[in-house]
Amino acid sequence: MEKLYINPLPIRIWHWTNAFGFILLIATGLQIRYLDLIHLVSFKTAVVVHNWVGFVLVADFLLWLGFYLFTGKIKVYYPELSPTKYLRQLQYYGYGILRGDPDPHHVSINHKFNPLQGMTYLIVMVLMVPVQFFTGLLLWDVSHFSSMVEMFGGVRVVDSVHVICFFFFSGFIFIHPYLSSLSDTPWVHYKAMITGYEEVEDEQGQGG
Ligand code: HEM
Repeated sequence: MEKLYINPLPIRIWHWTNAFGFILLIATGLQIRYLDLIHLVSFKTAVVVHNWVGFVLVADFLLWLGFYLFTGKIKVYYPELSPTKYLRQLQYYGYGILRGDPDPHHVSINHKFNPLQGMTYLIVMVLMVPVQFFTGLLLWDVSHFSSMVEMFGGVRVVDSVHVICFFFFSGFIFIHPYLSSLSDTPWVHYKAMITGYEEVEDEQGQGG
């Protein structure tokens, strides 16, 4: 067995701050949007917490982006171009895993994600998260950003996009932890996101 250091400290700090923050944003967002449905704290507290957590997560996102860009490790996010590799991973998730087949993806320093993970994380981190934060920022002070709000079609459009992203993340927060547990052992990726290290068979870590 070989231990690969695939999740450096800044990534682990970013990830768990982000995960906890998103749970808070979803809970307070639900309360702000659907007053009758959920009443955890006062409306005012929900708004204040939602805004502050939003700003903390924007800073956290810049930590993630800065780390990947300045260390050159952004390579791990380059999408896989071979369709057969996507199909093989899909086949594994679909039924290979039920037959006890080994995970077709072999983790290495430059290829820590399988093709499906890589594509999902790329979409989440370069599209969904920035759109969620940007629309949130505009809604935080609509009058200050009025010209930009108008440019994007008005407050209803900006608000709708923010809420659509909210629905996406409300699903993601359940599906992503489950999919992260699908591999040769359920905790292997969790351990790596806590300690930084993933254990791989000796010859596996050599590539990439
Ligand atoms: C309860 C909440 C969460 C749990 C338990 C969780 C769990 C995990 C685990 C175990 C990994 C490592 C597996 C892997 O590398 O694929 C991971 C990675 C990742 N998660 Fe989460 N996650 C949570 C919330 C989130 C949220 C809210 C987001 C984004 C909005 C997110 C985005 C990511 C990304 C982009 C990676 C890859 C990070 C990298 O190595 O660059 N996660 N997550």
